[in-house]
Amino acid sequence: MSGIERLKGHLVETGGIGRPGSVRVERSDQLSLDIGVTRPTGSKENRQIRDYAVRCMKEAGLRVEFDAVGNIFGRREGSTPGLGSVMCGSHVDSVRNGGMFDGALGVFGAIEAVQRLKEENFENKRPLEVVIFTGEEASAFKQVLLGSSVLTGKVPLEQALDLKDEKGRTLRDALDGMGYRGTSIRRLDDVEFMIEMHIEQGPILYEEGTPIGIVQDITGLAWMLVTITGQENHAGTTPMKMRKDALVAAADVVTFVNKRATEMVEELGSTTVGTVGRLNVFPNGTNIVPGKVELGIDIRDVNRKNMEDLIQITVDFIENLEARYDVTTEIQMPAIHNPVPLSKEVTHVIEDSAKKLGIPSKRMSSGAGHDAQNIAEKIKTGMIFVPSVQGISHSPLEWTEWADAEKGLEVLVETLKSLSKE
Ligand code: HGY
Ligand code: MN
Ligand code: MN
Repeated sequence: MSGIERLKGHLVETGGIGRPGSVRVERSDQLSLDIGVTRPTGSKENRQIRDYAVRCMKEAGLRVEFDAVGNIFGRREGSTPGLGSVMCGSHVDSVRNGGMFDGALGVFGAIEAVQRLKEENFENKRPLEVVIFTGEEASAFKQVLLGSSVLTGKVPLEQALDLKDEKGRTLRDALDGMGYRGTSIRRLDDVEFMIEMHIEQGPILYEEGTPIGIVQDITGLAWMLVTITGQENHAGTTPMKMRKDALVAAADVVTFVNKRATEMVEELGSTTVGTVGRLNVFPNGTNIVPGKVELGIDIRDVNRKNMEDLIQITVDFIENLEARYDVTTEIQMPAIHNPVPLSKEVTHVIEDSAKKLGIPSKRMSSGAGHDAQNIAEKIKTGMIFVPSVQGISHSPLEWTEWADAEKGLEVLVETLKSLSKE
């Protein structure tokens, strides 16, 4: 069976895990907005895809272990003792109602690439490792890039394990429930290179018709979890001037973030983006003045100062709401991930691999956050992008043509050969 057929089989099979009715999708015309993929960390579906990936790793001859925060590692020893490994992988958790390629392409592409090298009797002098990072999305535990943040020491292990999901379950219990909580955190000092293959999740490659993106830098990413507390009251009997309406205050935040980010792009020509993607209204009754609102704000820029400026101006704006609306506000910032340049050395190897295969490529930035940006702060790291049809992602309509996935796989195989041959 050719590499892409096996990889396609894995993606179609796992694309059914967490999708209503477990529908398998092989062609983009089978996609629809109401059958997205939902596999948050700790869910039955997350365990199912982890178990599926571990079976594939073992079939590829890898020795499988997992660490104290549930990151999974599959290892194939190298022929030369003492050399640092080449790590390759991504994540298998998803956003709510998301797509079948985000993360999964990088995990099953890595497994397929290592299996291909084994079948070709390629002599990898360096060890090869496939990695699955826990909780890249914050769809369950409100901290993006969680597993790689613990792996790189940005988030202490116990702090991560104490994180609670919306049902109050800790990550510790969630991992125990799935059977994926190891005893220690993997050290990275025996890793030399890391590669992550991923869908672009934006429109550039698709619109230009370029099959391969070589990521030079990854955007900075910050989340603000905001709670605005007013006073719930009767919608009919509470005079307008006596209200402490948390939702009216929150609505100002939604508009402010969008407006200020748009102005920064116009004024600075920057890559700034600002989004309020999450809004919970309590008690959420039509005839009740909202007493409390929770907002999730996502702020990004490849320029760290722009990101920090937008964060600060948003904090000031939120704090000023207290006097204007007679509410109280609370802001949590679970993590700020810096914009990160990727390794020039690895970027060159990816570019040379694409050239050797006669596949057009372009260097670019990533507007999406990735585990690679954490790993890149410790290890020489690169990313390979493949096109997302119409740039759509974090949506059930997310799609990558199989021919493009195949080109990404070929470049990944060639890159792993180059990096692991001495
Ligand atoms: O949000 C992101 O950019 C990534 O998909 N977690
Ligand atoms: Mn994602
Ligand atoms: Mn992803």
